Amino acid sequence: MTTLELRHDVRMIDIRWADGTTGRFPYLWLLDSDPAGLHPQTKERIADLTAVPVDAAPVRAAMTDQALTVEWGHDGRVSVFDTEWLRAHQPGNRRDDPADTGFHHWRGDLGAANIPRANAADVMTSDAALRDWLVDTRRYGLSIVDGLADTIDAGTDVAKRIGFLRETNFGLTFEVMSKPNPNNLAYTPVALPLHTDLTNQELPPGFQFLHCLKNEAQGGGSLFCDGYAIANDLRRDDPDAFRILTEISVPFRFHDDVTDIRSRKHVITLGLDGEVLEICFNAHIADVIDLPPDQIEPFMLAYRKIMQMTRDAKYLVTLKLKGGEMVVFDNRRVLHGRDAFDPQTGARHLHGCYVDRGEFESRLRVLSR
Ligand code: OGA
Ligand code: ZN
Repeated sequence: MTTLELRHDVRMIDIRWADGTTGRFPYLWLLDSDPAGLHPQTKERIADLTAVPVDAAPVRAAMTDQALTVEWGHDGRVSVFDTEWLRAHQPGNRRDDPADTGFHHWRGDLGAANIPRANAADVMTSDAALRDWLVDTRRYGLSIVDGLADTIDAGTDVAKRIGFLRETNFGLTFEVMSKPNPNNLAYTPVALPLHTDLTNQELPPGFQFLHCLKNEAQGGGSLFCDGYAIANDLRRDDPDAFRILTEISVPFRFHDDVTDIRSRKHVITLGLDGEVLEICFNAHIADVIDLPPDQIEPFMLAYRKIMQMTRDAKYLVTLKLKGGEMVVFDNRRVLHGRDAFDPQTGARHLHGCYVDRGEFESRLRVLSR
């Protein structure tokens, strides 16, 4: 039996649910959440909070298993709330989110063989397979899609199953190969130490897709590490270094003939609950460090420490991508790198693109409906 009490002293309706627990619903929250205040088609809020008197209060309220009905004193309107909806949206309970997969932090002992895998034909044709793959990719921040056709668009077509591609100054998609006149280290045959891409952008791209078309040169192996695992270990083992990397910002810059894109970033960004949310780490596009002199050494020691961790076998998963495979990773979490390769010994060609976290999570929610 569900019962309610009008609590004018604290301006809330207290609902005692049948299981004995209590939900508290402030008057202004009820007025702001009234379903009649939403546009019938778009479900966006059209009610205006400033039109509600601050002392608005119910004159009567009644509760059944189906609905809570509230009659308001200031304008006589009656608000009707679905009981199940109220229960699910009780203030103080974080909204349930089907995109919240949780995060599995991994280290080198994961091994390349245990990186989650999906088959391209499956994710292209089955929504269930697509959803399973997105869940794994978000949990680990890393997965491999195999069985891709040997065509330039095969990888980006898989990415487009998720959502809009994120365009950057390198294009909507990009070719990673040794090129004449490169404007990016990735377009040379040199080694790329562990990094996240485009830390110089106001918002670095979310998920990255690298479809391997050819990897026949000597060298060219791939390396990955989980920035969440590293940052959390650093927080435990060297809290000062961790704090410095969350507080002191690094200038990043990419510039070529037509662009000069700059942004300051913390190496580690925390979320609203103090959890590690984002890693921005790219030593090759860090600009000249312009910190006050007394901050430079503490910063550089902390920065060097996390840099060493990214090179530690304890954290590294290594593999050599084969033609027809695509590696997919959360570029704001998982660092990637590659060994040098010798273009004289064979071709190496990856085709890449990005899909931002927002598009990715939206797709996961819609697939979970
Ligand atoms: C890149 C990159 C990795 C590779 O293009 O940003 O890191 O394996 N490439 O070539
Ligand atoms: Zn990169």
